[in-house]
Amino acid sequence: MKDIEFTVESNIFLTKSVLELKLVASEQLPEIRCGQFLHLKVGGEFLLRRPFCIYKFDSHSVTLIVAVVGGGTRRIAEFKAGDKVKAVLPIGNGFTLGNEHRKILLLGGGVGCAPLVTVPLTYPDREYISYIGFANSEAVMFEKDFGAFGKTVLCTDDGSAGRKGYVTDVLREDVEKIKPDVILTCGNTPMLKAAARLSAETKIPAYMSGETRMGCGVGACLVCACAVKQKNGEIVNKRACVDGPVFSLEEIIL
Ligand SMILES: Cc1cc2nc3c(=O)[nH]c(=O)nc-3n(C[C@H](O)[C@H](O)[C@H](O)COP(=O)(O)OP(=O)(O)OC[C@H]3O[C@@H](n4cnc5c(N)ncnc54)[C@H](O)[C@@H]3O)c2cc1C
Ligand code: FES
Repeated sequence: MKDIEFTVESNIFLTKSVLELKLVASEQLPEIRCGQFLHLKVGGEFLLRRPFCIYKFDSHSVTLIVAVVGGGTRRIAEFKAGDKVKAVLPIGNGFTLGNEHRKILLLGGGVGCAPLVTVPLTYPDREYISYIGFANSEAVMFEKDFGAFGKTVLCTDDGSAGRKGYVTDVLREDVEKIKPDVILTCGNTPMLKAAARLSAETKIPAYMSGETRMGCGVGACLVCACAVKQKNGEIVNKRACVDGPVFSLEEIIL
């Protein structure tokens, strides 16, 4: 984990409220694994950095997907090519696959699809099937990214693109046919709760990256504490920033 200076290469709106921000580093980046995130210094009146999953990366650059939801992300929307920004990375445990996980189901909701795009970069030798869900056709992103590494099922809540319905409901109809070894998911809390129910009913193990609020991002402040049920039934607090952000859906209490 290192605090690195980046230059903004591009910052473009993919939809009305979602940006794709590409940052080029002043030095070679440390090794990044799928599902890890960075902590971006926003500047201005914002003392706390903001966490973002790493959507794409190479040895000298990272690309982020940023939903503009509040003051910090509105400020990020104003970043211009050539601006200098700092970010600590890589943070967190990321998604880890076992050798027994050959057929991987990626389940993404909205901007939560972003960290799943890096999974095949870290694990190129697996089979991937992706279910990605958005509110409507105007919010659809990432279809090409997922299409590049396997079958992709697009869903929208209102049916204006792809199959109609919540992505977890559509997956529920198909999951017995697919029989994935593991589900990796990222999205909002209601979607993760639905994924946890599906995982419990089908006994397919599932791992998620969630929406915890963060302070320091380095394990010191406990702002990101989340409750996790251990194998012996005991409930303990873990820090989403350094113990997560990826947890088993069987263990995390959402
Ligand atoms: C590990 C991790 C990875 C993330 N990756 C991404 C990503 O790839 N793309 C992306 O767009 N967002 C991501 N987020 C969420 C992002 O960090 C927040 O949306 C952002 O910090 C909000 O900053 P703000 O100042 O604009 O909003 P604020 O003014 O702080 O809050 C505005 C609204 O956003 C909500 N919000 C604030 N923080 C979070 C949060 N951590 N999660 C969910 N909602 C929040 C608040 O409840 C409030 O409703 C991630 C969060 C975590 C913990
Ligand atoms: S954000 Fe400070 S301990 Fe996790």
